Parts: sequence; structure tokens; C-alpha cells
Amino acid sequence: MNSIMKLLASLLLFIFSSLLFGDVVVAESLNQKDPFSGRNKLFVFGDSYVDTGNTKTTDKGAWAFPYGITYPGKPSGRFSDGHISTDFLAQLLRIKLPVTYAKKDDVDKTRLQYGMSFAYGGTGVFDTYVNYPNMTAQINYFEQLLGNVYSPPSDLSSSVALVSVAGNDYITLVRAYPNDPIGLYGAFKPFIRKVVNQTEENPHLGSEEDSNTIIDTTLKSVAKLNKENNHSAFTIIDYYNTFLAIFNNTGGIPGIPTFQNISIPCLGDDGKVCDDRKSAFFWDGIHPTQEGWKSVYKVLRHNITAALMPKA
Ligand SMILES: *[C@@H]1O[C@H](CO)[C@@H](O)[C@H](O)[C@H]1NC(C)=O
Ligand SMILES: *[C@@H]1O[C@H](CO)[C@@H](O)[C@H](O)[C@H]1NC(C)=O
Ligand SMILES: *[C@@H]1O[C@H](CO)[C@@H](O)[C@H](O)[C@H]1NC(C)=O
Ligand SMILES: *[C@@H]1O[C@H](CO)[C@@H](O)[C@H](O)[C@H]1NC(C)=O
Ligand SMILES: *[C@@H]1O[C@H](CO)[C@@H](O)[C@H](O)[C@H]1NC(C)=O
Ligand SMILES: *[C@@H]1O[C@H](CO)[C@@H](O)[C@H](O)[C@H]1NC(C)=O
Repeated sequence: MNSIMKLLASLLLFIFSSLLFGDVVVAESLNQKDPFSGRNKLFVFGDSYVDTGNTKTTDKGAWAFPYGITYPGKPSGRFSDGHISTDFLAQLLRIKLPVTYAKKDDVDKTRLQYGMSFAYGGTGVFDTYVNYPNMTAQINYFEQLLGNVYSPPSDLSSSVALVSVAGNDYITLVRAYPNDPIGLYGAFKPFIRKVVNQTEENPHLGSEEDSNTIIDTTLKSVAKLNKENNHSAFTIIDYYNTFLAIFNNTGGIPGIPTFQNISIPCLGDDGKVCDDRKSAFFWDGIHPTQEGWKSVYKVLRHNITAALMPKA
């Protein structure tokens, strides 16, 4: 993607994230009596915002230098210079990083007790430009492990699900119209309507209506997860406003740095890494740096903690 398309794609990502009420859904588990510290498993679904190494492409992106330069010092399959969303959530839950689905057979079985990540960079709720499992397929992988690797209900009642849908469905649409902004606009218009309509209709879980919008498909996926947990409540955490709050921060949020030049990613189009990686919010055109994610979790910390606490 050239940089204009990149910028457009990330812009759309933010616009749509806003319409979709944000990207990250934390689905709560069943046992309301469990203390926060009892959440000892993290199951992860979605895309590059949460993928800690399921993809295999080694010639570029997450498995190629300089990705991973900050942590672990070499490419690790994370789409950033270092730690990402999943790492920070695991840290917040005080558990070890869940193993990736791709590595599940290679690790010591005791590692499986912290949950698993089924997320693949580039994927969406619909099929996208990459040949990796979409959201439904990821959830199916998870379900295949139930009853043998993970035993409901006890294993699930102590779990947290992190679901990220950051915008690959939109980027796929963008890519279908290279150098054709008018065609893209034409394709987007009905799509925008559909999303807005769906938002206005205030869709609820469990609806049998056949609908194709991303929000609906995402909600259905989460509903399916919740069903496994015998739990209908879930919390949607709004990345979009968190990102905005950080972009806008001029010192008002304690402990959050004021990032310079938000729109300029640390990793340039020429492959050069910026001098001070902590000064950049974005690592590449779309993915935050480790410092960016760290700030996001500082802002979200209280809300996530509150969402996972037992309800009064
Ligand atoms: C997700 O992938 C599966 C398996 O490839 C496919 O059957 C299904 O149609 C896809 N779902 C969507 C919503 O695109
Ligand atoms: C859900 O509830 C049903 C009926 O109460 C029970 O049989 C089943 O084991 C529960 N499943 C989970 C995952 O808690
Ligand atoms: C959105 O809603 C408007 C007004 O109800 C309707 O005319 C239009 O067909 C809807 N568009 C889509 C894509 O559902
Ligand atoms: C956290 O929750 C409060 C209360 O519901 C809400 O007003 C605020 O916008 C949330 N913050 C973020 C970053 O989502
Ligand atoms: C960020 O700043 C813009 C422009 O100053 C303002 O319109 C917007 O409401 C602010 N957003 C947040 C989340 O603070
Ligand atoms: C931010 O961008 C402006 C304009 O391109 C430039 O003058 C300034 O040096 C940049 N600041 C940093 C910290 O990169």
C-alpha cells in the first residue's frame, strides 16, 4: 500500500471503529463470584492488534526485522516494535502470555493453562486479503479444544476473551479499488449506510435475523463465545476514544506521554526506524508501538478492571 492508501485505510479504520463502538470486546465469563484475580485464562480472537505470532509470513511484516526490535529484540510475529495489546492485558490479569494456536503442540502442556491466542494478523469477521482463518474459523478452532484441552464449565468460568476487529474488513474493500477513489467511494456508500442503519437499530444479541454487517457478525461471534460461558453480558471497550484521548493528550492524563506527530509512524516507508521509539504512538501505518499500547492500557486500566469485577 502506498502511504496515501495507508493513511486512508487507517482513517477509515478509526471512523468505522467509532461507528462500531470500538474494536476490543472483552467478553466476561460466567462466574460472577470470581474475584478479578481468579481470571486465569485469556482467549484471544481477531487480528494483528492482538496476534502474538500465529501468522507464518516471514519475508515481511511481523516476522521480519525491524518488527520486534524493542521486544523481544527480534521479530516475534507481533505487529509492532514490542509488546502489544494481548501482552498488556495478560499483564493486567497477572497471568503468563497465552500460547499461540500455531505453537500449541510445541509447548509444555502446562503452558496451555493460561489460555490461547487464535488471532491472525490481517483477518476480519469476513474473509479478507489474507489466507488466514476469519473470526468464525478462529472460534471454531477454540470450540474444537473444548472438552479435551479445556473443560467447561470450570475452565471457561475463569476466562476472559479478547476480541479485536480493527478494520481489515474495510482495508479489504479499500484494496479492491486500487487507484480508484471514486469506485471505492461508490462501494463504501451503501456499506456506511448499512453500518449506520444497524447502529441505529440497536441490534441485540441472539437475534435470528440474517444480517451481514460487521458489527452484527462480530456481536454474533461474541454471543457464541458467551453462550459457551453461559453468560450474556459483555463489555465493549472503546479503542477509538482511547486513541483519541491519547492523541489529544497535552499532559492532562497523568502518566501518559504526549506523543509527537501522531500521524508519522516510527517505521518509515524507507524501512528506517525512528531514533526514539518511545516518542511515536504508531509503529507502522496502522499498528501502535509498544509505548502506544502501554498508554492505551494505562487509560483503559480502570475500565477493564471494572468490567471484570463481579457486578454488585
Ligand atoms: C469464514 O471462513 C469459513 C471457512 O473458510 C467460511 O466457510 C465462512 O464463510 C467464512 N465466514 C465469513 C463470514 O466470511
Ligand atoms: C451451561 O448451563 C448448562 C445448564 O445449566 C450446563 O449443563 C452447562 O454445563 C453449562 N455450561 C457451561 C460452559 O458453563
Ligand atoms: C438504511 O435505512 C434507510 C432508511 O430507513 C433505507 O432507505 C436504506 O435502504 C437503508 N440502507 C441499507 C443499506 O440498509
Ligand atoms: C470508562 O468508563 C467510563 C464510565 O462508564 C466512561 O465514561 C469512559 O468513557 C470510559 N473510558 C474509556 C477510555 O473507555
Ligand atoms: C480531541 O480534540 C478534538 C479537536 O480539538 C476534539 O474535537 C475532540 O472532541 C477531542 N477528543 C477527545 C476524545 O478528547
Ligand atoms: C513533527 O512534524 C513537524 C512538521 O513536519 C516537524 O517540524 C517536527 O520536527 C516534527 N516533530 C517531531 C518530534 O518529529
